[in-house]
Amino acid sequence: MSLQTAERRVRVELGERSYDVVIGDGVRHLLSTSLPDSARRCVIVTQHGIDWAVDPGLPSETFYIGDGEKAKSLQTIEELCRGFAQFGLTRADVVIAVGGGVVTDTAGFAASCYHRGVAVVNVATTLLGQVDAAIGGKTAVNLPEGKNLVGAFWQPYAVLCDTETLATLPEREVRSGSGEMAKYAFLGVDGLETLPPVEQVARCCALKAEVVSGDEREGGRRLILNYGHTLAHALEAAGFAGEGPGKAGVDLRHGEAVAIGIVYAARLAERLGRIDAARVARHLEVVHAYGLDDRLPLGVVTEDLLVAMGRDKKATAGLTFVLDGPDGVEVVRDLSPALIADVIEEMRSE
Ligand SMILES: NC(=O)c1ccc[n+]([C@@H]2O[C@H](COP(=O)([O-])OP(=O)(O)OC[C@H]3O[C@@H](n4cnc5c(N)ncnc54)[C@H](O)[C@@H]3O)[C@@H](O)[C@H]2O)c1
Ligand SMILES: [Zn+2]
Repeated sequence: MSLQTAERRVRVELGERSYDVVIGDGVRHLLSTSLPDSARRCVIVTQHGIDWAVDPGLPSETFYIGDGEKAKSLQTIEELCRGFAQFGLTRADVVIAVGGGVVTDTAGFAASCYHRGVAVVNVATTLLGQVDAAIGGKTAVNLPEGKNLVGAFWQPYAVLCDTETLATLPEREVRSGSGEMAKYAFLGVDGLETLPPVEQVARCCALKAEVVSGDEREGGRRLILNYGHTLAHALEAAGFAGEGPGKAGVDLRHGEAVAIGIVYAARLAERLGRIDAARVARHLEVVHAYGLDDRLPLGVVTEDLLVAMGRDKKATAGLTFVLDGPDGVEVVRDLSPALIADVIEEMRSE
């Protein structure tokens, strides 16, 4: 099978857990050569509606999980692991995740605990998955008490970002992935939005790989990948973003909330004298280039966001943000709630 374009290859350097991320049209066809030599059989975890067949070249069984955050549950983990056991998957075999972040987070966590850990290969089929979720080894499922509360760091054996699969991705999902992508324009990928599409994905992967290599367990620098996410997580926690109809008729997808969060972080950084107006304008330029909105929808309640931010897992002291500045993007702690509220008010749609 010949590839339509030359693929890009990015290495995530993590000692004996190092692996390649391959990006390009048709790279799913490299699957059979991207599996551990020890594997004699494999399981494929995917969802209905993802019509991109993969050929692992080994005996396999396919498991379909449900759609959306509700599928990221301990019940799904139990069902998958029981299915793996009934199929006879051994510790030397491999789990193949074909899908977006919901599939790779869930299959990855199942792989991390089945037989105390089996290899997982991610075939990422959403833009968000390709530039973020499939790389870096964070796996998790949700509890009724909160998102991603039960999980493990479990690095994949390989990641295939097949850009051809994006052809069938619904428009809203493309937009959500674009919001996640936009953050990389401020983490070191200059002129991101002007690059050819496959190159954009590759550059984002390279940046994520570099950050993960330096801080696998998010003890420090990896936190910069949360750029735009303090407000985005607050919008999600307060019910204005996530899946389906949100509170007050506000219905933002994760990446759409991140896009607003990036612009918000820029405005906050400007108010703190960390960046100038031209840098804020650059944030707007990137967000608009991806067809994303930079304004908070009208129904969003500032007080609800402040309460949600106080509960953010990085809020060890005061309110914490990842902000741009003279030395690039960094974590800034202990911000005043009054200033935060003021900048939120400034960001409303007229
Ligand atoms: N582990 C991490 O580091 C990390 C990082 C970011 C996000 N996440 C997680 O990722 C999840 C969101 O992932 P997502 O945005 O990829 O959403 P998703 O996995 O829910 O996929 C969105 C929708 O697109 C469908 N789909 C996937 N590929 C398709 C294709 N090629 N063609 C047509 N339809 C397709 C899916 O079936 C689903 O309905 C969240 O649960 C989030 O917590 C994890
Ligand atoms: Zn995100």
